Amino acid sequence: MAQYVQSALRERLLEVFTHAEGEFVSGQRLSEVLGCSRTAVWKHIEDLRKEGYELEAVKRKGYRITMKPEKITSNEIQLGLKTKFLGRNIHYEETVSSTQKIAHKLAYEGAVEGTIIVAEEQIAGRGRLDRTWYSPKYTGIWMSIILRPAIPLPQSPQLTLLTAVSMAQAIQEVTGLEPEIKWPNDILFHQKKAVGILTELQAEADRINSIIIGIGINVNQVEDDFPEELQERATSLRIEGKKKINRAELIQVILEKLEKLYEHYLQNGFYPIKLLWEAYAISIGKNIIASTLNGKIHGVAVGITDEGVLIIEDEDRKRHYIHSADIEIR
Ligand code: BTN
Repeated sequence: MAQYVQSALRERLLEVFTHAEGEFVSGQRLSEVLGCSRTAVWKHIEDLRKEGYELEAVKRKGYRITMKPEKITSNEIQLGLKTKFLGRNIHYEETVSSTQKIAHKLAYEGAVEGTIIVAEEQIAGRGRLDRTWYSPKYTGIWMSIILRPAIPLPQSPQLTLLTAVSMAQAIQEVTGLEPEIKWPNDILFHQKKAVGILTELQAEADRINSIIIGIGINVNQVEDDFPEELQERATSLRIEGKKKINRAELIQVILEKLEKLYEHYLQNGFYPIKLLWEAYAISIGKNIIASTLNGKIHGVAVGITDEGVLIIEDEDRKRHYIHSADIEIR
């Protein structure tokens, strides 16, 4: 509760500075607006400085913000966020091993649905199929989201596809680019990957306790920022759109799109989401190779089932139902 009050006060403080548009705001006015002492105001100002804001303090004039950090702190994300529950509770850290790891711990401890974990950098970022996920500081979005849907366990993969759709929608809105989804949930531009999604579960018997959706987006990297072995396969929104992106704004739009689709899904089921997913999908109708744990399957990707399972038809017109695989489009 105390922490909630503190962050509400900080949010209010930032709002006042935003309205002041770079002009000074007196200490007296700040303490009136926040309803706290001048000493408490000073403490909040110091906290903002620690978060990377640069503030000028001039006697008899007050304070003004001279530079905002290019960070994705809780304040940056929550200021102007239009969601009901997604991102209303934010756990932010500069450097973590993996946001998934923190999300698992918080979910286990009872974190509310919609809690998000955001970091500027991951030093042990995890990808699908036990791969590592390269997550350098200040350039991307490394975020995990805790959901607690009341759905049967076998339907959980649907949420991965739903997330991919909301990401594609958000990227389209913010950048004007045209994202393509490769089954199940990679977002590509010109066959290079910009976004990956990792969905993990906490469940007992057939009951879902929580679904943890990990989202990795290459946002502001330039080509040389990627290690050589990734340059062939990875891209960023900045490389594609030739423009730097405001990461906090992109997170806000992602949360808004995801919340809307999620609520729609809980009320109306997967079918409408499936149609949206198909509109972005590049693998459907193409010759593909699916590398599964049981070997490779060659054939045409003919569609997905109502559960989000990929259907491949081989040369003998035999249908294969693929739950988990790496897809190569030929
Ligand atoms: C993939 O392999 O395509 C999935 C990549 C998922 C990466 C994200 S970044 C935030 C979250 N934390 C992690 O360690 N992984 C996911």
